[in-house]
Amino acid sequence: MGISRRDFLMRVGQAGGYSAAFLTMQTIGLFPPAAAFAEPLRVEPGIGKGVKVAILGGGIAGLVAAYEMRALGYDCTLLEARTRPGGRNWTVRGGDKVEFSDGTTQQCTWDAPNYQNVGPARLPSIHKNILGYCEKLGVELQVEVNTSRSSFLQNDAANGGKPVVQRQAINDTRGHVSELLAKCVNAGSLDADMSKDDRDRMLTFLRIYGSLDSAGKYNGGDRAGYKVLAGAGDEAGVLADPIDMHTLLDENFWQGMLFEETFDMQATMFQPVGGMDRIPFAFAKALGNVVQYDSPVTAIRKTPSGVRVEYTHKGAPKALEADYCVCALPLTVLRKIPNDFSAPYTKVMDECVYAHAYKVAWESRRFWEQDYNIYGGLEFVTTGCSPVWFPSANIFSKRGVFVSGYTDERESEFGKLLLPEKLAESRKTVERLHPGHGAEIEKPIYVNWGKVAYNEGSWIQRYGPGQERAPGITFTPSGVPAKEGKAQTRTNAGYQTLTEPDGPVYFVGDHVSHIVAWQEGAAVSSLRAVQMISDKVKAKNA
Ligand code: PHE
Repeated sequence: MGISRRDFLMRVGQAGGYSAAFLTMQTIGLFPPAAAFAEPLRVEPGIGKGVKVAILGGGIAGLVAAYEMRALGYDCTLLEARTRPGGRNWTVRGGDKVEFSDGTTQQCTWDAPNYQNVGPARLPSIHKNILGYCEKLGVELQVEVNTSRSSFLQNDAANGGKPVVQRQAINDTRGHVSELLAKCVNAGSLDADMSKDDRDRMLTFLRIYGSLDSAGKYNGGDRAGYKVLAGAGDEAGVLADPIDMHTLLDENFWQGMLFEETFDMQATMFQPVGGMDRIPFAFAKALGNVVQYDSPVTAIRKTPSGVRVEYTHKGAPKALEADYCVCALPLTVLRKIPNDFSAPYTKVMDECVYAHAYKVAWESRRFWEQDYNIYGGLEFVTTGCSPVWFPSANIFSKRGVFVSGYTDERESEFGKLLLPEKLAESRKTVERLHPGHGAEIEKPIYVNWGKVAYNEGSWIQRYGPGQERAPGITFTPSGVPAKEGKAQTRTNAGYQTLTEPDGPVYFVGDHVSHIVAWQEGAAVSSLRAVQMISDKVKAKNA
């Protein structure tokens, strides 16, 4: 006699209790696997009493470490070079000054409530730790619209350079591929690979999946959109003509189409209401005087009992002695600070390469909403600054700030341009996608993380020669990887080195995780370090 899944679970629950039923549900796939470290730390409350910790850097990794360690009773001091918390989590608003290490200064004059998250700007729903902190700290979240079927793809070399709306590119591609596969099935080319039953099932599927007619042909369909929208009376609407397969097969079209399929980029995504920096400011508020601003580190020394961190506070030399150090500074910054690190660590610091991601943001009338029905989402161009990224905040208001250009400019032609030339390129992209609108955008702000003091890079690209974070792929937000590749952080010797402490110094940050370039990576790296330090303290106390 068959038994339903529900009955089965009830019986497991009766026999083994809730946790047995839960485990069974997980095993048979009814629940997603638990996220790494989303469970609480396995540490005795109060373990940190009488233990001094110096935390270096007030980005998300440093803030998470301070938050967790203080709760465990550690005596924490967090040194932050700037006068704000957050590190790369930086939101620029009207009135803010953007300064680069080469002296370039820009003054932002956008109207309130417009802003741009020039660092992290989206939170995947799978990033349970950072989302968990938002909940704990009362940071209000809203949906970040990472994709819009009304947004455009543009390629100078295809379709006469005319932009294509994503709903059409995606659905026409599906239609063409389905038509071809149906043809193969009907011609018997797949007889050796599929049973007769599955061939029939496949044909039924393709008719719906690809919107094929009864003869198995793709002739367009309303999923791909209209040339003339339907209305009342005799306005039945006119469907768009399908784009030919040759055009769609251009990799610069299909890469943009697949962006939203990337694991981390899939809907639903979130952002804090009012700017990403609501997260570090909420941490900082909770931490009170644990965070010391205006305190750049000038030396990191090992001592017989731990560490001695030298720094300046408002320019005056200071020092801090501690039992442990949680070091959340970027390696590009760390390598310039006099230190006592052992050889394998200085090797990674000296040899690693960070990407120089940039963003150019403009303020404008919301032409994308008002004239094109685009609400949030990204657009991709082949030549020029890609992607264009429309705001999810204050949709339907009059003016907004959007991005035109966000990628790694290190070693790129774009990177060699002067600032006015970069801004001109960014404006040209808008003109390519939305002719006539390049002229109406204003008040550009350009941020290149390679030139931001105390960062000197956006995210790690390479842990040493031949130690790519993801071999064979360019780690860029502009479309999916050109080649299939998987992150191989774990096989990199440099990465492995960083995951172990150098004496009393524990390294944290997204670069010490497999979730590089995400705040979640920063959070999990710190949770891991807190666990390791606490295990050590426990062993010492025993
Ligand atoms: N997390 C960053 C972003 O949202 C950087 C990144 C881009 C990470 C693309 C992975 C892939 O854009």
